[in-house]
Amino acid sequence: MNILEIIAKKRDKKELTKEEISFFVQEYTRGNIQDYQAAALIMAIYINGMSDRETTDLTLEMAYSGDVLDLSRFGTNVVDKHSTGGVGDKVSIILLPIIASIGIPVAKMSGRGLGFTGGTVDKMESIPGYRTNIGIEEFISNVEKIGISMIGQTMNLAPADKKIYALRDSISCVENIPLIASSIMSKKIASGANKIVLDVTVGKGAFMKNKEDAQKLVEQMVRIGNLANREVRCVLTPMDEPLGYSVGNSLEVIEAINFLKGDMPEDLKEVVLELGANMIQLAGLGDNIEENKLKMLEKINNGDGFNKLKEMVQNQGGDVSFLDDTSKFEKAKFIVAVETKKTGKVRDINAEEIGKLACFLGAGRLKKEDKIEPNVGIILNKKVGDIVEENDFLAYICANDEQKLEIARQKLLEIFVI
Ligand code: URA
Repeated sequence: MNILEIIAKKRDKKELTKEEISFFVQEYTRGNIQDYQAAALIMAIYINGMSDRETTDLTLEMAYSGDVLDLSRFGTNVVDKHSTGGVGDKVSIILLPIIASIGIPVAKMSGRGLGFTGGTVDKMESIPGYRTNIGIEEFISNVEKIGISMIGQTMNLAPADKKIYALRDSISCVENIPLIASSIMSKKIASGANKIVLDVTVGKGAFMKNKEDAQKLVEQMVRIGNLANREVRCVLTPMDEPLGYSVGNSLEVIEAINFLKGDMPEDLKEVVLELGANMIQLAGLGDNIEENKLKMLEKINNGDGFNKLKEMVQNQGGDVSFLDDTSKFEKAKFIVAVETKKTGKVRDINAEEIGKLACFLGAGRLKKEDKIEPNVGIILNKKVGDIVEENDFLAYICANDEQKLEIARQKLLEIFVI
């Protein structure tokens, strides 16, 4: 068996065997298959698709490409959460400390930015000192000690997904149901939780643009979860305009901190509460979804959620003074308000376009090796449905490059449909 035959088979729309998928995943992870060959195969999968059986084989092979955690010491109701990706999606940074403060253990492995969407790991790394790259023992001992740890895919957990994920990001092969389902479920299986809540985003700023595709993705992930003995619950959430107001790494961390201090944008609040209420129900700590939401609000109002975030940041080496005083986060060189010349109602703020604009400013990567700029991005001042008058500020652009700033200003005026 060799990689050229496997690429040719998928190029010619044939089904790959379990052995061929296993060969590709193992040899690519070991570095014995070149990036350009893996890119050709992934592109062929993107174009020609995969059967349910191939998707399952790919998922399990990636899940077992490294260590698979055993979290049974935390009981039989360990609940994990993952999002299929969005713009302005800082949900994990808010939700998981709240969940941990309720007493549900949180062992969360997150991803980096993918395509036009941001990633929790890139966001958390904008807190000076915060280590997302820790070993399995420290990860587990953090959960034992303080009930929560959020890390990146830097340990030996689903290393095949880590490589394929970064590759997909750099060859425009992100929006694909078998590739997304296998990427998410391999990470979740490797991370060890037996119950999983998935935030399946739908809309202009999501990888699934319509409900039919989102439903297909849900079916794949639930099916794979069941095969791997995991209880999977999917919650469909809207992603047409960015979630909340901020898009960009440290900008989103600041919004997450403010949320936990009680400043809660309505759309973000709805998603956080819906996902959290389902996590609490799956963990067996409350059957009633509405009561679970109230429990979460109590944890925000009494400061327990914020204190848990601080405890986690401190525990992983982060400087918590930035959480107490968010003005300490380094600001972009240029912060400029974008004014409208129109009067009317905001009809659309295309989240994908905003995500791409944030990437253009430096919040995301074009190549695997690119370094991101934590302090650039966009802060919306108006959301869909808001009334605007001439000279109102639509948004603020945070940029480190003057030329990019001017291009972004023009683009932003086009993105806002009034
Ligand atoms: N999140 C992931 O972990 N993988 C994807 O492919 C998309 C979103």
